[in-house]
Amino acid sequence: MPPPAPPPRAPLPRPAGGAGDDAVPAAPVRLRAVGRAFPVAGGTHHVLAGVDLDVRAGTTVALLGASGSGKSTLLRLVAGLDLPTSGDVEVGGAPVRDVSERCAVVFQEPRLLPWRDLAGNVALGLPRGTPRATGRAEVLHWLDVVGLAGFAGHRPRRVSGGMAQRAALARALVRRPGVLLLDEPFAALDALTRLRMQDLLVDVQRATGATVLVVTHDVDEALHLADRVVVLGSDGPGAPACVRRDLPVRQPRPRDRGDAELAELRVELLELLGVPRTGPAPAAGATGPDPQAVQARQTA
Ligand SMILES: Nc1ncnc2c1ncn2[C@@H]1O[C@H](COP(=O)(O)OP(=O)(O)O)[C@@H](O)[C@H]1O
Ligand SMILES: [Mg+2]
Repeated sequence: MPPPAPPPRAPLPRPAGGAGDDAVPAAPVRLRAVGRAFPVAGGTHHVLAGVDLDVRAGTTVALLGASGSGKSTLLRLVAGLDLPTSGDVEVGGAPVRDVSERCAVVFQEPRLLPWRDLAGNVALGLPRGTPRATGRAEVLHWLDVVGLAGFAGHRPRRVSGGMAQRAALARALVRRPGVLLLDEPFAALDALTRLRMQDLLVDVQRATGATVLVVTHDVDEALHLADRVVVLGSDGPGAPACVRRDLPVRQPRPRDRGDAELAELRVELLELLGVPRTGPAPAAGATGPDPQAVQARQTA
């Protein structure tokens, strides 16, 4: 049995005067005319083409798009885990040619080593050459920040999915990355844990000031987290994706999940993703649809 979940909100150190111990030199991200194609049987699969994207240092951008639209591919290009077939990717003003030291990635699965305890897993993220004592203090600090103080000695199989993902976040943060890249980081978690993790990420961004690029297919998550929501899409099946919409989200934080303006943006984003404002009218049946209601929906 996993131990009880940690408190909903981690007690984060608040940087005094806007810059504290946790602050990192945030790096901007810039993509220009980026394309990525993969060789496939009988031809080439163009996944991304002509992608232009700027993420200002210290801001959060959420990347939305249908499954298979190339979101993970784009994130991998920024992280330096893959290279574009055309165009340029820059982090902190320097071209990305290899796995970028300034980026840290969190994936959907925590990818923890089962034979190491949480502290040992987080330590894997420490920059090479970190002295042992400093490293231990850093690990314990970031475990504390993500709400896992007291769980340093637990093995991954003894903690819940949410706690394992907190450890994965700490492993990324211990590198003090200028850019935090997250690929559907909360998609595998239950709905309530996901909401708590979103709040944790907002807190972490505020405490570190890092640039955050987060891939999600959850429109509400994008609107809760981001300063801008960028939607990837293509002209049709098989066509390469590019940026279809770049939408600023100006609501101050902490954000009210019931905010009326966010609800409007939500409708707009869902429509861009092919989900209409209303569902289909119920089929005529025993209970029968109310003809007036159907007509109202059709003319709305
Ligand atoms: N290494 C690869 N080789 C061939 N095709 C790939 C490779 N990586 C991704 N793709 C293809 O690129 C498309 C986009 O994938 P991905 O970026 O994972 O989409 P998303 O994250 O938006 O769901 C998919 O059709 C996928 O099959
Ligand atoms: Mg993906």
